Amino acid sequence: MSGRLAGRTALITAAGQGIGHATAQAFHREGARLWATDIDEDKLAGLAALEGVICRALDVRDPSAVEAAATEIGALDVLFNCAGRVPQGALLDCEPADWEETLRLNVTAMYRMIRAFLPAMLAAGGGSIINMASVVSSLSAAPDRCAYATSKAAVIGLSKSVALDYAAQGIRCNALCPGAVETPSFNERFSALPGSGAARAAFTARHPVGRIGSPSEVAALCVYLASDEAAFTTGQTVVIDGGLSL
Ligand SMILES: NC(=O)c1ccc[n+]([C@@H]2O[C@H](COP(=O)([O-])OP(=O)(O)OC[C@H]3O[C@@H](n4cnc5c(N)ncnc54)[C@H](O)[C@@H]3O)[C@@H](O)[C@H]2O)c1
Repeated sequence: MSGRLAGRTALITAAGQGIGHATAQAFHREGARLWATDIDEDKLAGLAALEGVICRALDVRDPSAVEAAATEIGALDVLFNCAGRVPQGALLDCEPADWEETLRLNVTAMYRMIRAFLPAMLAAGGGSIINMASVVSSLSAAPDRCAYATSKAAVIGLSKSVALDYAAQGIRCNALCPGAVETPSFNERFSALPGSGAARAAFTARHPVGRIGSPSEVAALCVYLASDEAAFTTGQTVVIDGGLSL
């Protein structure tokens, strides 16, 4: 199938690599006009040649940059808030600065992005907001992910709240909840572990499907949530994790 997002304008944060990048490619393939953004504009170079894709630096933690982007871009049909960080550690390992930075990027920046772009979406009659959460959230815990799980649980609360408050005005808002997905930062986290090969094999074996996910598999789910095929889907925690959390 193609053209599922034809005529739609979308914006993706953290489109430079990983899930955001794969979703940018998928949105483009499905015909969307796309604003591909990332804190690191160099990482967007591979998308810049694609017709209908505009690449733009955006640090979602910067309130004035977010406001400026919303003013410049105007109404979106699809907003995919993908940017996030994955700090490691149990509560006693988590220093206050790391805790605060995690909430700043994973939660507060998402709140600001929605606050900045929502008025024009409402004025245009609605749209789809996809917020990057995780199965590690209010859905399930994982070892050494205290600040991360807390932040992604907040994303779920934020998404449900936006979904409920603006459903009647045409806004859908869903929390995307992947399990392990093979991205650059995922690989960095695993390679930093002692005995990383064995740790990775043991972790992979815990997945009922026998492997971890790929960014393109998550991107395919984003296409669905962005499209009219998901017109009756809002306020949901949409899990894609190879059965890990079963
Ligand atoms: N990879 C996984 O296993 C997994 C699982 C569940 C959820 N997630 C979530 O998916 C999202 C993307 O993770 P990933 O692993 O696909 O990508 P990644 O971590 O490999 O890449 C992150 C991208 O975010 C950009 N970025 C960092 N700070 C930014 C900022 N302040 N503003 C804008 N962009 C910024 C980076 O430049 C980079 O291109 C995160 O929110 C993460 O928590 C990932």
